[in-house]
Amino acid sequence: MATTSTHQVRTAVLPVAGFGTRFLPATKAMAKEMLTVVDKPLIQYAVEEALAAGIERFVLVTGRGKQAIEDHFDLAYELTATLKARGKDAAVAEITDFLPPPGAIHYVRQREALGLGHAVWCARELAGDGPFAVISPDDLVLAETPCLKQMVEAHAALGGNLVGVMDVPREQTDRYGILSTPNESDRTPTVEGLVEKPTPAEAPSTLSIIGRYILMPEVFEALGQHERGAGNEIQLTDAMAKLIGRQPFHGLRFEGERFDCGTKDGWLSANIAFSLADPDRRAATEATLRRFAANLD
Ligand code: UTP
Repeated sequence: MATTSTHQVRTAVLPVAGFGTRFLPATKAMAKEMLTVVDKPLIQYAVEEALAAGIERFVLVTGRGKQAIEDHFDLAYELTATLKARGKDAAVAEITDFLPPPGAIHYVRQREALGLGHAVWCARELAGDGPFAVISPDDLVLAETPCLKQMVEAHAALGGNLVGVMDVPREQTDRYGILSTPNESDRTPTVEGLVEKPTPAEAPSTLSIIGRYILMPEVFEALGQHERGAGNEIQLTDAMAKLIGRQPFHGLRFEGERFDCGTKDGWLSANIAFSLADPDRRAATEATLRRFAANLD
């Protein structure tokens, strides 16, 4: 196991207990985080991104109806044996290579979907006593250097709390957590305030938080107050806001493109972008796109 320091980020919390109501009916009986982009479920992308960032402990906050997620990170004995018997070694590798070491994944249940902040709070006993990462699996980032790796590297220099940020159109600020910052155009803007889903008129900037965070454990004190925020949910943004001024707090303008796969449009765009980015799939995807584009008005 790697040596640890107070700044090292070893744990990632992955909340997967939401209802995914924006993706019904697909999410009626299936976890949103098992939606596939090209050929992999969203939760696998998230775990692979965390592994690439050096994460050693994974805490998945699950709920009822999310059993398929645990099965995805287990061995599939019958399938593996069948594939082996048929000499399909590449397929065996596809279903086993992404698995973190035995015992590295922990599951905790959020009994009620009271919001992202509450889901993170449910992981408090497993998150450790140093900085920890939070990944929202439905936020998928296509990047040369995986997004969380970029964040862990930036965090090693900055310490404290760090959130992944990107510019959004002003008319969309009411969909996101928005930063108040004196240096909006910097690569690592200082966070002076955080507002969840402000109206375009009230938004202090157009810099939005995405589902990548590195947080100090003190956030659990604020989350433990169970205060309701936007949408009557316990918001992570509101708890983070209470750390501002007490600890260093920055945004990171990550390199890459983020897709909100919790929406149908975001998920469709992600499928196209990830398929085009795969050298084995690019030509076929271009041909498909050309065929559809030819029929557009
Ligand atoms: P979202 O707000 O996008 O997820 O949360 P949602 O509530 O499932 O989706 P909609 O708005 O109804 O369509 C981002 C992440 O946080 C998890 C979700 O599973 C998702 O991965 N989450 C959200 C929880 O684990 N618990 C919650 O109470 C809310």
